[in-house]
Formats: sequence, C-alpha cells, structure tokens
Amino acid sequence: MKGVVLAGGKGTRLRPLTFTGAKQLVPIANKPVIFYAIEDLVEAGITDIGVVVPADFPMARDQIMAALGDGSAFGARITYIPQDAPRGLAHAVSICRDFVGDEKFVVYLGDNFIREGIVPQVQAFREGGMNAMLLLYRVSNPEGLGIAVVQDGRVVELQEKPKVPKSDLAIVGIYLLDRHFFEVAEGLTPSARGELEITDALARLIERGYDVRPEIITGWWIDTGKHNDMITANRLVLETIESCIAGEIDAESQVDGRVVIDPGAQIVRSVVRGPAVIGRNTKIIESFIGPFTSVGANCLIEHSEIEHSIVMDDSTISNIPLRIEGSLIGRNVRVERSTLKPRAHKLLLGDYSQVGLAD
Ligand code: TTP
Repeated sequence: MKGVVLAGGKGTRLRPLTFTGAKQLVPIANKPVIFYAIEDLVEAGITDIGVVVPADFPMARDQIMAALGDGSAFGARITYIPQDAPRGLAHAVSICRDFVGDEKFVVYLGDNFIREGIVPQVQAFREGGMNAMLLLYRVSNPEGLGIAVVQDGRVVELQEKPKVPKSDLAIVGIYLLDRHFFEVAEGLTPSARGELEITDALARLIERGYDVRPEIITGWWIDTGKHNDMITANRLVLETIESCIAGEIDAESQVDGRVVIDPGAQIVRSVVRGPAVIGRNTKIIESFIGPFTSVGANCLIEHSEIEHSIVMDDSTISNIPLRIEGSLIGRNVRVERSTLKPRAHKLLLGDYSQVGLAD
C-alpha cells in the first residue's frame, strides 16, 4: 500500500501564519503537525509516501521539502507531487494517480491529527475486499462538517455541512482508498467554492455501488486548520509526553509535572508547570510557563507569564504585565512592553493578524 499526504492548500483560516509558511509545519508539542501523519503511515507499514506540495507557493513547498527530506529520517521514501494550484482535495489526490498505480492507498490530510494511529484500519483494509474505508468521529456539531450515514456496516450516504444532519459521524481527513477513486474523480466538476471536493468523489463511489466501509475512531480527531484547534491539539499531545530534562534549571527555579527541556535551554528564576516543552537554546528568565505550553527553539521569555499557548522558534516575549494565554505566536515575533511615551499600545501587525488586548 502507498501513502498520500496532502500538504498544499490555501490555509486561509490560519492567516497570517500561512502567508510566510506552510500550516502543516506549525509545531504541536514542538513537532510539525505533518510529522505525525508521516509517522502514523510508517507505523502502519506504509513507507512509500507521496506528499502533495503547493507549486504556486514556493516558500511553503520548499519548507515542507526541507523538513521531510527524502523521508529516510522517518524510515520512509518520499516522492513530492506538485499541485499547480489549490483546486481541492479530490484534485490533489487525482494528481497522485501515477504515483499510486494500482495499489491500495491511504490519503492523509497533512493538517489532520488523530490520537490512536491507523495500524488496525490499514491492516483490515489491506486484507479486506472493500473499495474504501472512511474513518468517522462522533461530533456534537455535524452541521459544520462532512457527515457519513451508516447502515448495516456500510457507508450509504454523505452530507456536506448539512442543515439537517442525518448522523453525528464526521468524516476524518484520513481515507483508505483503491484505484476506483481515480475513476470516479475523473468527471467531477468544481463545487460552489471552486474546488473539486473529495466528498463528491466519495459520494460517487457509494452511488456506483462500491463497498465503502465505516470505521469509527474513539480517541480524538483534530483538524488543525484553525488557531484554536492547534492549541487544542497541542494540549492533547502535551498530556501524553514523558519528562526529559536536558537543559539547565537554576536553583531558584521550579519545574513541576511532565516537562521537556531541550539541550541548551536555560530556566532562570522561573516556574515551569507541566505539561510543557521548552525548545533548544531557549531562555526563560523570571517568568511563569504554565501548563499546556510549547515554546520553540531560540526564544527568550522574560518577566512574563504564558500558558495554554504555542510559541514558535526565535520569538521574544518580554515584560508583559498580564498573563498570555490561548495564543499562537509565530516565528521571529516580538511581544514587548513599550516604555516609550506617550504610554500606548504600539503595534506592527501584518495583514490578518489578530490581537486580543486586555486592560
Ligand atoms: P483544507 O484545510 O481543507 O484547505 P486549505 O488548506 O485550503 O485551508 P483553508 O480552508 O483554511 O483555506 O485542506 C486540508 C489539507 O489538504 C491541508 O493539509 C491542505 C491540503 N490541500 C491540498 O493539498 N490541496 C488542495 O487543493 C486543498 C484544498 C488542500
């Protein structure tokens, strides 16, 4: 079996981070989200992996290719498949036809995230005679998602963002497929939002009588396409980390709970309350790092408090009087208290930035 990981897309919901980088590289517990997808595939024995990258966004394409390389670091072999423009998930899968050949394959959205991996599903699909297997997840908000209706062990209908949902089973962004997918995707026409929709292709599989099986997952599933979802994914992964202290903690600091402190990091007169991870060469000075926080490499956090947040590499947070929480802070960001007169908020924000100021 082969793997197909989709890492193109527009990433509009995660602006401004997606102006300068690929959303699939936003770190969850200091590891790019797409790494988890590759690891899940390799764990399931799928090592021949095609990664769809955005040809029209060379910066993101190059970052993804640099991060994943030839795949050998994951025990995989990666083939990059450029998509000329974000024409939809069904388009992104269709351009992998030559790579996949006649084999069965798994499509994994590069920004989706599940807890339990895909080992049993891949095994069942490899051995079974079905044409497709959809992973489903019970949700409380089916109105906003793609939904599957299940009857007698088969998926019998799909609904996209239904006003009146016929089920509460959302379709997870991991699809186990065979070559018939390419056949049904051929005649698709763009939807109202101008994309070739994977839901339309899957619906065609069902209409044409192919055997589409449901597999309900019970751990958790997160589509990390939005800021809050990234913070939630970060929290859930941090809940599972093991402590590992390689950096330095001075005698006046306190480190509680499960905490990873990477080599070269320094904790000075500070409190780090786990679960939390502190990246390589980052300095934490007279600060509080609260639970569920990941701080990347080469950051400086001084005289500040932060929790439930992600801080990416090379950023500085300095002298902030109020606790920062629920925040996603990109690379090379500076959040500092200004001492200039007049006393006022002084902001230099890129397009689509979001700032929530409290008194
Ligand atoms: P989405 O999150 O559905 O789409 P998007 O990346 O365009 O984001 P937004 O809705 O915020 O604008 O994409 C899911 C995954 O599939 C993600 O990893 C990007 C990838 N993708 C492609 O590779 N090609 C595509 O044409 C599209 C639409 C998405």
